[in-house]
Amino acid sequence: MPTAPLLTLNDGHKIPALGFGTYPMKDQEVETAVQAALLTGYRLIDTAARYENETGVGNAIQASEIDRKDIFLTTKLRGSEQGYDEALRGLDASLQRLNMEYVDLYIIHWPLPAKDLYVESWKALIAAQKDGKVRSIGVSNFQPAHLERIIQETGVTPAVNQIEIHVDFPQPDLVAFNTRHNIQTEGWRPLGKDLLENPVIGQISEKHNRNPAQIMLRWATQSDIIPIPKSSNPDRMRANLEIFDFTLDDTDLAEIATLNTNNRLGGNPDTYEEF
Ligand SMILES: NC(=O)c1ccc[n+]([C@@H]2O[C@H](COP(=O)([O-])OP(=O)(O)OC[C@H]3O[C@@H](n4cnc5c(N)ncnc54)[C@H](OP(=O)(O)O)[C@@H]3O)[C@@H](O)[C@H]2O)c1
Repeated sequence: MPTAPLLTLNDGHKIPALGFGTYPMKDQEVETAVQAALLTGYRLIDTAARYENETGVGNAIQASEIDRKDIFLTTKLRGSEQGYDEALRGLDASLQRLNMEYVDLYIIHWPLPAKDLYVESWKALIAAQKDGKVRSIGVSNFQPAHLERIIQETGVTPAVNQIEIHVDFPQPDLVAFNTRHNIQTEGWRPLGKDLLENPVIGQISEKHNRNPAQIMLRWATQSDIIPIPKSSNPDRMRANLEIFDFTLDDTDLAEIATLNTNNRLGGNPDTYEEF
């Protein structure tokens, strides 16, 4: 069975080097997919209150025969629940839907700077961690200014920053910022858009006898990024996890670096509104 190696976060907890994304699957589809992902060998599962699929994710984990301690479960605080008391209530509601006593990682989904509640929300996550409801705490879509502010105002550095990453939007400066602060980068949308037919990726695929998705996921893991690809298809799920038995060389990495066109597909964190 393929498995992802474990990395160590800045709080000492271990996290798999590749995970399974669950957006936009709803409860029934996600339950089947997460069961299949766990059987395939995935141990990091990524959900969010916003995805409205936590019940299905929780059901799949309860139904599996894998020890809860061997699964790394992430969920996220949605925008409409930002604020100190609201965030604590949001986490409790997620735990109830998941039917879990704790999650391994709880993250603020978007900074929403116009609401200016992310510092209060971060304080709530710190309290929840002390309470044992969450092992590690982190953020998503945070820019350096947002990170600097929460670190300065609380003294607590997030364990993870989950950001949009694909070979034509690799965000090297933000990844380097995270790394300098000992924040683990996770990459969402790791397969990007229209990249499976990219000729540079195609050439590297042929050279290593791997498919294009495997090349892009391996690029992420070799760039200190934990990718969290989503697939509903068991064959693609397996292929996406089977990337730790080959290595891209410096020539491959240099060619992939030429693909950076700063092609952001999702929201701009400085202005994006999420509810
Ligand atoms: N923090 C955030 O703001 C944020 C935002 C977006 C997403 N996320 C998280 O990140 C996860 C991943 O991002 P994403 O789902 O947007 O994008 P993605 O994982 O890059 O791409 C998923 C798409 O690629 C297809 N696919 C998967 N493996 C493939 C393969 N080997 N070959 C060809 N096609 C393949 C999937 O179709 P099939 O299912 O048919 O295989 C699906 O259509 C999400 O599921 C979610 O958990 C977080």
